Amino acid sequence: MPQGSVAAMNDFLTPRKLAQMRAEEMESERGRLLIASCCSGTRLAREVVARYRELSNGEQVTSDILFIENIDRRFSDGETCVRLDIHVGGADVFLFQSLLDPTSDLTVDQNYIAFLIAARAFRENGAQHITGVLPYLAYARQDKPTKFTREATTARLMADLAIAAGITRQIVWDPHCGQIRGFYGPIPVTTLESLTLFIHEFERFKGRDDVIVVAPDAGASKFVTHFGRALDLKCAIAAKHRPKPEEVEISEIIGDFAGKRVAIVLDDMISGGGTTAALVRKLITEKGIEEVYLGASHNLCIGRAYERLTELHRDCGLKEVIVTDSIPQTNLFRNLPFLKIRSLSDQLARTINRVHYGYSVSEVFYQP
Ligand code: R5P
Repeated sequence: MPQGSVAAMNDFLTPRKLAQMRAEEMESERGRLLIASCCSGTRLAREVVARYRELSNGEQVTSDILFIENIDRRFSDGETCVRLDIHVGGADVFLFQSLLDPTSDLTVDQNYIAFLIAARAFRENGAQHITGVLPYLAYARQDKPTKFTREATTARLMADLAIAAGITRQIVWDPHCGQIRGFYGPIPVTTLESLTLFIHEFERFKGRDDVIVVAPDAGASKFVTHFGRALDLKCAIAAKHRPKPEEVEISEIIGDFAGKRVAIVLDDMISGGGTTAALVRKLITEKGIEEVYLGASHNLCIGRAYERLTELHRDCGLKEVIVTDSIPQTNLFRNLPFLKIRSLSDQLARTINRVHYGYSVSEVFYQP
């Protein structure tokens, strides 16, 4: 090449241009960004795509993003069918599904099978990467063999099925227990959690002597400890027992309640609301607490939770409940004036972008 041309080329290759070329190169290595959703995951996927399109703020983003929604349907015999109406070969797919969707008639099992069939459809049609985006990981609570009941370890089974279907990565929000990642073997599981969200939500209580943070059971204690340290608050832990599946007994709450008037309770989920009801009542009647604030990553919108939360708010000092939209929330819960639903769309959009480009995800959540 004549020397003049090299000089001209160097002039042309500004740092900005080089960065752009590198981004394009990575784009082609990684494949085109494709967001897809099964029916139950469509609401959240739409919000995430809208949020993704607004991302800038220092993030390297692509404008070349494809979105296909509602890719599953039911045959008349009840079987599930997934069809992909576009070419997906080479794509970097992020597949959304809300495994539990209390706003629809679809069951957890139907949603799970739709997710698995969709993953397989992408796999068989040449997608390069298939990341499952499952904000609420159903079947995760049976994560170890239960004594004498001969139940299957369903958390393990679901991981096996997802891998067999073709999933190459999972993104989940606050799964019931962190060790679940081990069930996925070499498949990366990006586990996001509500710590930063709750720290932000309850920052107004920082350093107050009359406030205590309470873990409803041993499983929540580590999370509560991190939260307490961040907001300079003392912690307590409840001893919980379930005499029957829907019943909860709190035998004691271990912690120093002297001078405490306000309790912040943090849990991974509100299912039937039994844990919340038993704990809040005990805090109010036996520990001198006057106000309770509850943060839960997932609200399953099922069972007696609505009536229990309403009663606790009316009679027992439950002031505020903060949940996320990891599970589509029913209108019944949406209309509760003391329940606040925080959207995960921003965190998921940023996470997807960082996974797509191979950047650190933890930086999104733990900015120094
Ligand atoms: C239990 O281990 C979980 O962390 C939750 O505390 C529990 O699943 C909540 O269920 P429920 O609302 O039915 O008591």
